[in-house]
Amino acid sequence: MKVLRTVTNLQAHVEALKAAGHKVGLVPTMGALHDGHLSLVKAAVGNGDAVVASVFVNPTQFNNPNDLATYPRKEADDFRLLEAAGVDAVFAPSVEEVYPDGLRRATEEHVFDLGDVAEVMEGKFRPGHFQGVALIVSKLFRMVAPDRAYFGEKDFQQIAVIRRMAKTEGLDVEIVSCPICRAADGLALSSRNALLTEGQRAAAPEIYRTLARSVEHSQGHSVAATKDSVVEHLNARPFMRVEYFEIVDGYSLRAVEDWGDSDYIVGCITVYCGDVRLIDNITYRRPADA
Ligand code: PAF
Repeated sequence: MKVLRTVTNLQAHVEALKAAGHKVGLVPTMGALHDGHLSLVKAAVGNGDAVVASVFVNPTQFNNPNDLATYPRKEADDFRLLEAAGVDAVFAPSVEEVYPDGLRRATEEHVFDLGDVAEVMEGKFRPGHFQGVALIVSKLFRMVAPDRAYFGEKDFQQIAVIRRMAKTEGLDVEIVSCPICRAADGLALSSRNALLTEGQRAAAPEIYRTLARSVEHSQGHSVAATKDSVVEHLNARPFMRVEYFEIVDGYSLRAVEDWGDSDYIVGCITVYCGDVRLIDNITYRRPADA
């Protein structure tokens, strides 16, 4: 596996892959890899792509400086895992390589038209976050020009935002969304799980258990009652504070009021477990083609 630190070397490598007839699959990550990331690599390898992974903790998407400072970094482990998973090349640039004109200039230079999907939920609670995600992903799409790019459904809203960004920026990349990977106890895999104390880690699976139970609960209850029962239950658990729980149309991310409002309905949640911000989601209704 090649480790590439500069855009010039990345582009030369990708050009050679394409000249040799490969389709290129991009797996963007911020490192501290877990099985969820590796499932994206597996999906790309399974599609026959030559896989380029990126490992870059993107400062422009952190609205909280402490979150950026404490974000776990494990580059040597990450490279070992990526190589074993069959990645062809990893792009692991410095901040200066990605943002040569500085962070402020980069974020002010181009404001992305992300539409309504970026206004709600994460967009509301993490101002600027999706502009930063759009910025780095658009840069990666332009640098690599991949045929496909792979993202995990744990970040459900992020996928909607990236689809929108790719469309408005005219970037012709197939966005492949991959199912959430969970630990045996149901906790959605996340790099942030490493920041949980032992007690918090023991409590955190209640997030998924509550969401899973709410699917059954939804059968005999309204959307509002289902929402309330999830929030009340989790807020009563040790360490937990629900930041938001929204039940939304899976395409527009607009809140639904009635189960009949859409054939694709997803519940998206963010919970603080102690100081660690965890996100997850559950599907209530999904059409065959979603
Ligand atoms: O999902 C992530 O890890 C990040 O938001 C991404 C897509 C790699 C952009 O930095």
